[in-house]
Amino acid sequence: MNIKDLKNKAISGFSKLTKQEKIEWLISNVFENPKEIIREFTTYWHSDETKQKVFDEISENTLTNFYLPYGVAPNFLINGKMHVIPMVIEESSVVAASAKAAKFWLDRGGFKTQVISTKKIGQVHFYWHGEGEKLRAFMPELKQKLIHATKDITANMEKRGGGILDIELVDFTDAEPGLYQLMATFETCDSMGANFINSCLEEFGKQLPEFINQNQEFSAEEQECKVVMCILSNFTPESLVRAEVECDVQDLGVVEGLPAEVFAEKFAQAVRIAEIDPYRATTHNKGIFNGIDAVILATGNDFRAIEACGHTYAARNGQYTSLSHAEVKDGRFRFWLEFPLSVGTVGGLTKIHPLAKRSLELLGNPSAKELMQVVAAVGLAQNFGAVKALTTSGIQKGHMKMHLNNILANFEANAQEAEKAREYFLDKVVSFASVREFLEGLRGKSFTSKV
Ligand code: MEV
Repeated sequence: MNIKDLKNKAISGFSKLTKQEKIEWLISNVFENPKEIIREFTTYWHSDETKQKVFDEISENTLTNFYLPYGVAPNFLINGKMHVIPMVIEESSVVAASAKAAKFWLDRGGFKTQVISTKKIGQVHFYWHGEGEKLRAFMPELKQKLIHATKDITANMEKRGGGILDIELVDFTDAEPGLYQLMATFETCDSMGANFINSCLEEFGKQLPEFINQNQEFSAEEQECKVVMCILSNFTPESLVRAEVECDVQDLGVVEGLPAEVFAEKFAQAVRIAEIDPYRATTHNKGIFNGIDAVILATGNDFRAIEACGHTYAARNGQYTSLSHAEVKDGRFRFWLEFPLSVGTVGGLTKIHPLAKRSLELLGNPSAKELMQVVAAVGLAQNFGAVKALTTSGIQKGHMKMHLNNILANFEANAQEAEKAREYFLDKVVSFASVREFLEGLRGKSFTSKV
């Protein structure tokens, strides 16, 4: 499409159109093949209009629903309690790998998890020009004033045991003249707390210039303060959870043909490589997020926030590194991760999305702290499964099994064809071309397909 085409297709007021009108606009301006498009978009509408309305109203300019597979991984023993984990993910083999790792550790004591802290952070960024000492001296009084000013917003959260924990002044004037920040810490109990935190911060942002202006100790210039923005930080290093697995090296047994001590050492080496090399660390941590994101999505939480936070945490000491660690010492194998997680089990999508609600029910309606522990255990399980495969049979063996299923579905193979193909490809390289050739052999003719 060239610029002229783009101009012709610009539209104002798109959001005001009905869903039907939006689809019609797309058909006449972007897509060809109107019948096919209408059929495709409407096929995925919920048959019950009330239910569809729920999805339409979650976002904007909605045309249809985008399906992703919802699966479960059973056999997760976490702190002595069994869990079936809901997982929403498009990547084949993630759920299977989680379930396999859970089963492996079920026989070896399961996952031990612990919430280390649950503090969240919000910031008011502002410019103030004056004697820094004076502003610091004003902080204790300013803090009380700001906390008092947000009483109406915090009343409910305080009843639930949360609220504003502290407000500190951060001085960035070395980096930029006049730049300061109010850094507030919050406890938001079972909610992720984004709305609560941002409401408090915006109130701080409104009141801060007033309180500074009223301070008689300040010169005329010092009574001026310019607020730039007020927003929570998705970096929550003090909302931290730990998950670990541990057993005698001998209890690992023979792993994919490797004796226990050889496997344990190779596994620990693989983790050390991820600790040392950012290229490997990124892929290693991606494997952790395969598990984490799948549960975060299934429970209606914000996976972008979780990802952003996790990666910043992985680089907190100046170099991006592994989020998990392993040790083989005195005949024991230990594997663990510490991870910042800000999740909610009340509010937001958790109560609106019918399947997010079911996911929480499946997990026994956990508190936010309990959900943090489940998510961390799944992240560790997923990481264990990936590193175990990488250091033994290689990753392609498992992936190819799933890949073969996808290709067979694409070629519309029937049950007998699929069974024969699975047997045939046990020791062969799977590709679209090789599966097509195999099926053509079975069918005795070449065929056309969508791929
Ligand atoms: C694939 O989605 C994830 C892995 O690459 C993770 C890893 O390499 O540790 C298998």
